[in-house]
Amino acid sequence: MSDPKHEVIEHSRNIHQVLLEADHPETWEHWVLLASDRHHDNPKADWDLERKHLDQVVARGASWIDVGDLFDAMGGKWDPRHSKGEVREEYAMAPDYLDAIVRDAAKFYAPYSKHLVAIGRGNHEQSILKRHEVDLIERLAAHMSQISGHRVCSGGYGGFVRFSVKFHATEVSAFTLRYFHGSGGGGMMSHGTLATRRMASWTDADVIVCGHTHDQWALRLQRETLEASKGRFHVRLRDQWHIRTPTYKQEWNDGYAGWHIETGKPPKPTGATWMRLSLVRVEAPERIESTKGNGKRARWRVAAQFMEAM
Ligand SMILES: [Fe+2]
Repeated sequence: MSDPKHEVIEHSRNIHQVLLEADHPETWEHWVLLASDRHHDNPKADWDLERKHLDQVVARGASWIDVGDLFDAMGGKWDPRHSKGEVREEYAMAPDYLDAIVRDAAKFYAPYSKHLVAIGRGNHEQSILKRHEVDLIERLAAHMSQISGHRVCSGGYGGFVRFSVKFHATEVSAFTLRYFHGSGGGGMMSHGTLATRRMASWTDADVIVCGHTHDQWALRLQRETLEASKGRFHVRLRDQWHIRTPTYKQEWNDGYAGWHIETGKPPKPTGATWMRLSLVRVEAPERIESTKGNGKRARWRVAAQFMEAM
């Protein structure tokens, strides 16, 4: 078990900064678990898999970010989407259904509070806010903070996480993650990948993380910029990663029946995505985020790799 190697600063309700330090840029790495669509209170949510991945976060001294639909929250008495097979036994009889799902989720996630960057919101939480004027994520963050003694940050339906990696005492290289829970139905044939060009047109982040459609993929695009250095111009190519995180809800089972199967949806992957940050040497020094000396340029840049959590 190791403490997180990060410090989280909340700049606004949906902008969080993760401060990291690299003693040796050559060998430094930091892992971040990207997840969404846990639908934790649904009986089909795989709690063992969730726990396994969160324990890996602790073991690696890593960070984790959740981008919405942590709750399913469709089992309330007045919810028109209410379905007996979609409610855990303990909640079926709970007179305080919304409180009960928050209470249990807080107990489950509180041991991992120190490693958390932020928990964002999805359409399932926003639906409860709209119908019942209850902010599930705000309540969860408060409960987790109370249990763990560590302040837990909530995020938005969309927001930013800025990773700032300090090395060589004064140099800082930054990496920007934009998250957005997601919208629409994805795409039976494209798995939602057509959204990448759309999103690339309005955000400049290094990585864009979405959930919602319960698909899993990582797609690498390139952007070009014209940079000036010492009176000369250079065309620079930069990665923009698009990440779609899956779900922890196993809706398929044996494909017998149910809403998911009867509406013709395919089996979906469960789990989460690891992001491994490291530092790579740049060909020409780049402008850096902050330094004691003016006009200094970094010789290392933050790069990311993505892989399926096992
Ligand atoms: Fe969703």
